[in-house]
Parts: sequence; structure tokens; C-alpha cells
Amino acid sequence: MAQHTHQATGHERIETSNLLMIVLILIVIAVGGMVEIIPLFFQRSTTQPVPGLKPYEPLQLVGRDIYLREGCYNCHSQMIRPLHAETLRYGHYSEAGEFVYDHPFQWGSKRTGPDLHRVGGKYSDEWHRLHLSGPRDLVPESNMPAYPWLESAAIDPATVPPRLKAMQRLGVPYSDAEIAASAEAVRGKTEMDAIVAYLQSLGRHVK
Ligand code: HEC
Repeated sequence: MAQHTHQATGHERIETSNLLMIVLILIVIAVGGMVEIIPLFFQRSTTQPVPGLKPYEPLQLVGRDIYLREGCYNCHSQMIRPLHAETLRYGHYSEAGEFVYDHPFQWGSKRTGPDLHRVGGKYSDEWHRLHLSGPRDLVPESNMPAYPWLESAAIDPATVPPRLKAMQRLGVPYSDAEIAASAEAVRGKTEMDAIVAYLQSLGRHVK
């Protein structure tokens, strides 16, 4: 009986070799990824702040750290997509230039609660205090946890200049004078003051 030998060539060789297939797939994904991602580091629309955007004030920056510490991002996004249903509910969609001073950004990945990107100015400071101390006092059906200890937790001013300095190193344009004055700016303030100041600052640069 004649032995039938078959020499795989061209595409067939790729399709019949696991290793070659995997290597080539990885190369294609790497090139595709680079083409999509690298230009974003150089585009004005993604690297320049939107007009009027200012770095967080010291109290707001402390509030942002509390937002991270308490894991608010587990339930809240800060990223309004350009879809009609979202802009109707939350306001103008989020723009990349609004987040250039955020290290790291707080876009979040899941919404148990509503998006918070445009919550700044939506409620009074007093509303936020009551809501954070006991969400169900204001929204009976809420499943958001209460954070009553924020009201009595003092901020240690000595910890604040290093936070601004770290941001400065990441490219946020704080002056050395602002950093030096930042401890005084939070003296006597509570963690509740800080997180409310942070929430009130969100999303106010695009109307
Ligand atoms: C377990 C999920 C969960 C966590 C964690 C959580 N929230 Fe909420 N949040 C909700 C839900 C649900 C609502 C909607 C009901 C309500 O208003 O209480 C809400 C509402 C809000 C609102 C009102 C938004 C609006 O537009 O009406 C603010 C502000 C808010 N949360 C801030 C925070 C902050 C700050 C933290 C962290 C200290 C936090 N949340 C942690 C679930 C959560």
C-alpha cells in the first residue's frame, strides 16, 4: 500500500501547530493594542485638562483619599457614557480631560448606586452629611452603608503636604507654596468635611 505523505504548507501549517498559532495571535493582539493605546498618550483631548479644571484643593484631596479608603468606588462609577439614557439621568457625558489630575481615576466598574461624576452641586452640603451618616434617613429604600464615624474623625494636618507632593510628582501642577500651606487649610476639619468637599467638587467643569 502506498504511503500517502502530506507536507503542510502556508496557512495549513499555522492552523495545525498550536504553538505557532498562539505566538502569532499574541503578536497580532500586541500590534493592535499598541495602535489603539499609544496614540492616546499624545492626543490633546486625552492629555490636556478641560478649560477651567483645577487641581483638588487640600480638603478635597483628603476627601478623595477617604472615598478610596471606604471603597465608595465599589458601588459608584464616575464615568457617564455618551448614551442618551445616561446623559438624561446624570448630565453631560464624561470627558477624558476632566480626569487628568486624578491619580488614579475613579471611573469605577460597577453601579450598585448611581454614577457620581456630576453629583457636585446637585445637593446641599447638609444633604450629604445626613445621607452619609444614615442613607435611609433620606432615601428609605437605600442599601448604601452608613458612615457615621466620618463626622467625628479629625484630619491630621501633618499628613496633607505629602499627599499634595505625591500628586505634584505625578504631574499635578501644585506649587511648592500651595503644598506648604496645605496643612493649615485642613486644620480643625473632619473627615466628613473633606468627603463632602470632594463630592461637591465633582464634575463641575463641563456644563
Ligand atoms: C453597597 C454599595 C454602596 C457603597 C459602598 C456606597 N454607596 Fe453611595 N449609594 C448607593 C446606593 C444604592 C445609592 C442610591 C440610594 C441613596 O441615595 O442612598 C447611593 C447614593 C449615593 C449618593 C447620592 C447620589 C445621587 O445622585 O443621588 C451619594 C452622593 C453617594 N451614594 C456617595 C457615596 C460615598 C461617598 C460612599 C463612600 C463613603 C458611598 N456612596 C458608598 C450604594 C453605595
